[in-house]
Amino acid sequence: MRTIAIANQKGGCGKTTVSINLAACLAREGRRVLLVDMDPQGHCALGLAVPEDQIEVSIADVLAARGGCNGHAVKPNGSGNGERLDLVRSIWQITANFDLSPSTTSLARFEIDMVSKPDAEDRLAEVLSTVSEKYDFALVDCPPHIGILTLNALAAASEVIIPVDTGYFSLQGLSKQLDTIEALRARRDQPLEIRILANLYDVRTKLGREILNELKRKFGPMMCSTFINFNTKLREGASFGQPITEYDPGSMGFRDFVRLARELIATGGPDMVPTTLIRQADRLAERAEKLLATSRPLFGPDGVENREPGQIPAASHDEIEERIAAIYGVKPTAEGVLFVAHAPGARTVQLAGDFNNWMPEATVMQPNGCESSFRALLPLGPGRYRYRYVVDGRWQNDPHNSYVETNPYGELNSVVEVG
Ligand SMILES: Nc1ncnc2c1ncn2[C@@H]1O[C@H](COP(=O)(O)OP(=O)(O)OP(=O)(O)O)[C@@H](O)[C@H]1O
Ligand SMILES: [Mg+2]
Repeated sequence: MRTIAIANQKGGCGKTTVSINLAACLAREGRRVLLVDMDPQGHCALGLAVPEDQIEVSIADVLAARGGCNGHAVKPNGSGNGERLDLVRSIWQITANFDLSPSTTSLARFEIDMVSKPDAEDRLAEVLSTVSEKYDFALVDCPPHIGILTLNALAAASEVIIPVDTGYFSLQGLSKQLDTIEALRARRDQPLEIRILANLYDVRTKLGREILNELKRKFGPMMCSTFINFNTKLREGASFGQPITEYDPGSMGFRDFVRLARELIATGGPDMVPTTLIRQADRLAERAEKLLATSRPLFGPDGVENREPGQIPAASHDEIEERIAAIYGVKPTAEGVLFVAHAPGARTVQLAGDFNNWMPEATVMQPNGCESSFRALLPLGPGRYRYRYVVDGRWQNDPHNSYVETNPYGELNSVVEVG
């Protein structure tokens, strides 16, 4: 079971929205998911239509019952007096594969009762260890401050997602928070993987774009490739008590969260790296095989060229390739970044990448003076951008750019860096 805390000291940056919708999308991808609400505000229950007055056992009760804490109400169904309480008794099933352990306001009381208890920060880890075989993911929604509840979540987790409001969040505040998390990470035995998730992104605002670029520049490797756009359907879904998978599976919010779920599945699983490498190796082998097959007839068994009189010499083909390589590809220029694609016979060539939220329809490349060449000039600020071409609806990396990286789907993204 991978335990992921969703934390940020800032209120309203989207912790609960990310917790609920990521859980729903992981479940939709066939993963067994437990969402634990560690915020006394109880917003997970609210956002998933679990009526607070019907919650008989909350996560607060389960945590308080651990370690024989009898400081407060360990009394669901009369089973009080410090007896252990099984986490399963707090669980509500939300959809297939998606369970919630809700909180109530009594969790605030737990925080007070726990002060100066030696195991105050370890209770959630202990509780979650009892269900580690039952789930693939445990997501823990945290309150908007770093106190005993968030510390419990971080102690239980091996990963933390920090949603960042790209609308209004100050970068200075984020750095401060990362200092806190770095300090926590240094204190703990097992490593805590930090992922920063841009949320409430609005591509139309200059501020949003600038903040996203700045985040990428400062925290590049920690950033989730996916970012979550501002999408009113996410807000509406919460007010109707539904995750986006149910409320509007056609929305941009749904698409963003599916992408995030897939990214997490792809990047964090223990077997993912070998799988990616194997796929990449397979593809390379396939390419090498094809090259070999096409080059063999040019040579005799002794390696001497088999060319018929009048046939185009192989060298001229290489020269043409060289010339193509010089023309096509991606180049930062004074006016912006110039993308030139070689797509003979294509009707439409589009460009999708970090700069347009991977929406190919946003950047249609223009014919570049001949039928096989298409261009786009984008005024991009300093940063690192991944991109792919969409040629007549088919996604591909830029074959004239050797700077590539594997994306969460096991394909290659082309990369350009602007200094
Ligand atoms: N990507 C988004 N698009 C539109 N609205 C969003 C998005 N993310 C969050 N919201 C809305 O912003 C508000 C705050 O979000 P949310 O409750 O998830 O934040 P939070 O970090 O959990 O807050 P708190 O710190 O109070 O727990 C909610 O009304 C939510 O619906
Ligand atoms: Mg919240």
